Parts: sequence; C-alpha cells; structure tokens
Amino acid sequence: MRILVINGPNLNMLGIREPDIYGKNTYADLCALIENYAKEKNAEIKIFQSNHEGSIVDEIQAAFGNFDGIVINPAAYTHTSVAILDALKSVAIPAVEIHISDVSKREDFRQISYAGMACEKSFIGLGFDGYLRGIDYLLNK
Ligand code: DQA
Repeated sequence: MRILVINGPNLNMLGIREPDIYGKNTYADLCALIENYAKEKNAEIKIFQSNHEGSIVDEIQAAFGNFDGIVINPAAYTHTSVAILDALKSVAIPAVEIHISDVSKREDFRQISYAGMACEKSFIGLGFDGYLRGIDYLLNK
C-alpha cells in the first residue's frame, strides 16, 4: 500500500512551536517515527509538508493514481480551506485526518474541519501517535 502523509503549515516547527500544546519532539522526530512504522508494516510512504495551501492542493491532485491512502494534518488550513476539501473529494482517495492536539477542547475557530468532511476517520488529540493510528486504519481497510 502506498500512503501519502501531508502536513500543513507550521508543523515543520514542531519542537519549537508552542511545546505546551504540541510537545517537545521535532518535525524530524515525527518523520522518523512515521517512516520507521511504515517500514515495519511494509507500507510505502511519502511525507510532504508545506506552508502553502495551493501546494497542498497540487500534492493531493498528484496523488491520483499514485497513492492508495492519504493521512493529512492540514493544520490551520483544516479550519479554512474549502480548496483542500474539494481536492480530497476530487481524487476520492481514502483519507484520514490527524490533529496532534485535541482541537475539540480549543478555540471556537478550530471547531470546524473542512478537510475532515472528506475524511473517513479523524484521530485527534493523540499526539504523534495519531499518525500511526491513521496509517493502521488505512492498512486495515
Ligand atoms: C493542528 C491543530 C490546528 O488547529 C492548528 O492550526 C495546527 C495543528 C494539530 O495538529 O493539533 O497547526 O492541526
């Protein structure tokens, strides 16, 4: 199985950004965790990070025919981006949504998830482990 992991804006700042919310582990730690897990599970993984909405849309479109599942943490674009929602619907690749923090217990503006509307499952507030649970979900489908 070929899985595309997409991380939205500021997730490359993990370890530096708001450690009380996102923890002290770095983005490199997250990538290593995901890559090692994928190897263990014999899954092919590509990890993509961008701070740009259009680049994320481009990456989702390019996944068509090339990936069997998408694990996406759209970060702030979760709560604003109809374009990412439409891209996920366009390719219709099974997708799961991840949030490191428990967005349900945070600000009102974080209570809507556009991307989540195109995802089969959401793993929220589980820290980095959410990504692994998302991969498991896609592998067990
Ligand atoms: C996040 C939650 C979003 O609300 C926030 O904008 C992020 C990270 C998370 O993983 O908890 O950048 O997606």
